[in-house]
Amino acid sequence: MERMNSLAVVAEGVRKHYGGAPALDGFDLAVPEGTVCGLLGPNGAGKTTAVRVLTTLLRADAGRAVVAGFDVAARPAEVRYRIGLAGQNAAVDEILTGRENLEMWGRLYHLDAATARRRAGELLDRFGLAADAEKRVKHYSGGMRRRLDLAAAFVLAPSVLFLDEPTTGLDPRNRDEVWQAVRELAASGSTVLMTTQYLFEADQLAHQIAVIDAGRVIADGSPDELKSMVGGDQIDLVVRDAAGLAEAARVLAAAAGRDPVADPGARRLTAPVHDRIGALTEVVRELGERGIAVEDVALRRPTLDEVFLSLTGERTARAEEGGHGEEDRAA
Ligand SMILES: Nc1ncnc2c1ncn2[C@@H]1O[C@H](COP(=O)(O)OP(=O)(O)O)[C@@H](O)[C@H]1O
Ligand SMILES: [Mg+2]
Repeated sequence: MERMNSLAVVAEGVRKHYGGAPALDGFDLAVPEGTVCGLLGPNGAGKTTAVRVLTTLLRADAGRAVVAGFDVAARPAEVRYRIGLAGQNAAVDEILTGRENLEMWGRLYHLDAATARRRAGELLDRFGLAADAEKRVKHYSGGMRRRLDLAAAFVLAPSVLFLDEPTTGLDPRNRDEVWQAVRELAASGSTVLMTTQYLFEADQLAHQIAVIDAGRVIADGSPDELKSMVGGDQIDLVVRDAAGLAEAARVLAAAAGRDPVADPGARRLTAPVHDRIGALTEVVRELGERGIAVEDVALRRPTLDEVFLSLTGERTARAEEGGHGEEDRAA
């Protein structure tokens, strides 16, 4: 029991079938109180199913889950009382305005009227809804509803907050606001479990990243531990002339300590490096000394696809064009 007290979320051997292949197939997770856990995986990996089981919306077929100290199957009301969930538009009432919705949530959570009003105002500002605060939600766009739903999850600091792909479809400014709200909530002592398809997002926010594939966690650790499993950040290099590709590959191999992946059609080479800036500097200098013209060179974090390739040997179902990682460009 000692151990359970310091864990906000525990899942052990959770299974869930909808019919075909299992959506959760022995899902294990342990999230310490007051930390942010990023549950990272491609479409169909089982993220939403895991969140629905942990938030008592869905009953598992087997296994055990304890959230905020209570078993989700045996004591769902106790769990619900202590958690928040965003991602379903469940919190939003069409007839009310944005401001009225947030004030209503504050009152439901027993804030006094003045505090509920102040909190609503702060959240409307934070999520870019101040200009539309007095409009009825039925006139809101999809993106505005989504932001209002997220704001409702932050009205009170729940003990454990679940966010299912909270930033999918948001523009960068709104995404940054969600990130900041998550950081502040965790700093105030709440535990946050958020799902994402983006390694760079989990890397920004999470103390712990759990990688989920086909209904089970296949890697679990700090962002640094995960990245070193993958082999660190990636250098992408595009040479101007295809004739320089072979020699550039030798230069990059020397810096990376392994052969780069080549895409000759695009005159592109990619390799993971541990010493980011040192390796980039060395590569740029060596190429310069050998007179190999470079069209582009970028240092970027590995993509989810590269994490999967390195953990499972398989690409994700939705391998994307061009990294969605954040890039530090040189040259
Ligand atoms: N209501 C459902 N009925 C049948 N299959 C479902 C249902 N919900 C999810 N699945 C299947 O379960 C698997 C996991 O889905 P989901 O938990 O939504 O993954 P993710 O959120 O990571 O995209 C997928 O194969 C999906 O097609
Ligand atoms: Mg999902």
